[in-house]
Amino acid sequence: MTHSIIRQPILVIFSLLASLSFATAVNAQSLQIKQWAASCAACHGTDGYSEGGGLVSLAGQNKDELIKKMNEYKTGKREATIMHQLSKGYTDEQIEIISAYFASLPAVKPVAKTK
Ligand code: HEC
Repeated sequence: MTHSIIRQPILVIFSLLASLSFATAVNAQSLQIKQWAASCAACHGTDGYSEGGGLVSLAGQNKDELIKKMNEYKTGKREATIMHQLSKGYTDEQIEIISAYFASLPAVKPVAKTK
């Protein structure tokens, strides 16, 4: 009887600690992804939303399509002026993560609401 009264708060503290460190890991990971995506922003626009219509937006594209295009740039199968060099700087895992990130964004840039 007395045991369970003592054990309960300890369990609560442990599960709190576990969820805290999980949240930190997720935050660190999403920061890393944003950093990778930011290196595409110079040409493809912030968060992959192309401004001015020069390049196709990356945001909202299909993940598998993005991976395919990047790999085709890497192998030289897809014509490029610059992406064939750039794509070589990323591992398969990085390309997968970056592609998933852009694919997770809405294709149309959300408009900031001014009340
Ligand atoms: C220095 C400018 C520059 C940067 C930085 C850049 N790109 Fe590109 N990207 C281009 C250009 C230019 C093209 C058109 C193909 C070409 O000429 O290389 C292109 C094309 C693409 C395409 C094909 C678009 C389509 O749907 O047809 C994808 C996908 C792409 N880039 C992904 C990326 C990703 C992911 C990053 C960041 C890791 C990135 N690019 C960074 C310039 C850039």
